[in-house]
Amino acid sequence: MKFDYSESYVVTEAPIIIGLPSDFHQMDNFEEVDTLLNGLTASIVEEEVLKTELGVITTTGVTIQTDYRKVIAVGLGDTARLGQTDIQEAFGRLFQYLKDTNTKDGQLLLDTFPYDPGKLAEALGLMSVISIYEFESYKTDRKPLFAGEAKLMITSRRDVKETIIRANKLGESIALARNFSETPPNIMTPEYMADKVVAIFKEQKYVSGQVKDHESLEEEGYGLLAAVGKASKAKPRLVTIEYRHPDAGSFKPIALVGKGVTYDTGGYSIKSKTGMPEMKYDMSGAANVIGMMNAITEMELPVHVVGVIALAENMIDGNGMRPDDVYTSYSGQTVEVKNTDAEGRLVLGDAVFHASQYSPSLIMDFATLTGAVVAALGTERTGVFTNKKPEFLTPFFEMSRETGEEMWQLPITEIEEENVRSSSVADLTNHVEKPGRASFAACFIKQFANGTPWVHFDIAGTGTVSQRTPYGPKGATGVLIHTVVKYLETGDVHE
Ligand code: BES
Ligand code: MN
Ligand code: ZN
Repeated sequence: MKFDYSESYVVTEAPIIIGLPSDFHQMDNFEEVDTLLNGLTASIVEEEVLKTELGVITTTGVTIQTDYRKVIAVGLGDTARLGQTDIQEAFGRLFQYLKDTNTKDGQLLLDTFPYDPGKLAEALGLMSVISIYEFESYKTDRKPLFAGEAKLMITSRRDVKETIIRANKLGESIALARNFSETPPNIMTPEYMADKVVAIFKEQKYVSGQVKDHESLEEEGYGLLAAVGKASKAKPRLVTIEYRHPDAGSFKPIALVGKGVTYDTGGYSIKSKTGMPEMKYDMSGAANVIGMMNAITEMELPVHVVGVIALAENMIDGNGMRPDDVYTSYSGQTVEVKNTDAEGRLVLGDAVFHASQYSPSLIMDFATLTGAVVAALGTERTGVFTNKKPEFLTPFFEMSRETGEEMWQLPITEIEEENVRSSSVADLTNHVEKPGRASFAACFIKQFANGTPWVHFDIAGTGTVSQRTPYGPKGATGVLIHTVVKYLETGDVHE
């Protein structure tokens, strides 16, 4: 969506878009708006022609001079109680209304929204991209995307342009991650994904990177990642992208690690015919790390970050990994594979240990790791685990309240520590036949953090949605890109 900016109302043919609080006198420019509405604001609201309930979109018409104009109102409810997620969702509904009605033109009177102008502009810039996101499908009759054709005039006395442009970058980074996730798995192979990442980041400032192919992974001892990926024709890759802003160059990096299983059949512990479809999304952790790195580099955040994405396709062939196999991890610990469908933790074991070699102050990993986290927390909360005290997670919970990306902590205790060590032939096992599987999986990965402060996000439930929300369509969400970028942007992350 393209934006133009003006300081006051410009007479055009475009529909007029306003925010409508239940007490409309709260609008900063009520007089102006009321004049535009021919002094009828009060009765329009009283007769419920336009509604003020939060997030509700209603329309009417007014005559301006001698012309008839459409007015689109975004209900804001009681503005004393408005939070950032409310504003985001209200904008999401607005943009989806524009898309659904194919309204490609509009003039948004931003000062009608009684809310912190900076935060308002952030929500606007973000939601204008992600709420109407659409994957460029392979349909032979597909039309040009709405977002590419729509334009909006932003009318405000405040200078909001820079903030909107910046928030657009975050939105585009989420869209980028979604594009990766949505691309079918016969195309989005480890090699293809690695090549794309190289192409994206080689143009960026302060970035260096490295790709390891299957041969180097085996030679250098990444035994777990190599084992998971070896049965596929599309061999595994490990991609590292380091972004080192000059203002943060002397600080230890923060590592972002993503599970990139480009397809998860389960391997010899094969998934059922209903469990397998949608497993193209099993690389969403990696896709979201790519989105985070894209936002960080595009916004030129003053941080030092290492992104690690571990790419493999979990398939079956004569050389495939079997239950009972033992492999030596990059960390040197040996692992007995008891279930080849518990592949994410294997891939991440090597990737997290690889990340620890950069001496980071913190490792975060993102993975569609377990069905169990969905059973525990549902599809609207990410499961969070750490090897530090619970207080360590406070900043993440704070950020997530602002972004709307909810999360809930789950435990790792002695119980799991014992279970991951219960193999009779190796140091660790990737699976035991016991409940509590999200915690077990997290505890397995913890063995590879090498003592580095570590936070694990199990996004199996939140990486996709089954129906449209104000944040976007059914499918990949790009979850936690917003929260992590906010964390890196606002926190004293390097102290
Ligand atoms: N990729 C799956 C987890 C998953 C399940 C993601 C459903 C999204 C939706 C993971 O690799 C997996 O297969 N996990 C198994 C582990 C089990 C075999 C120990 C699971 O959770 O069932
Ligand atoms: Mn699996
Ligand atoms: Zn998986």
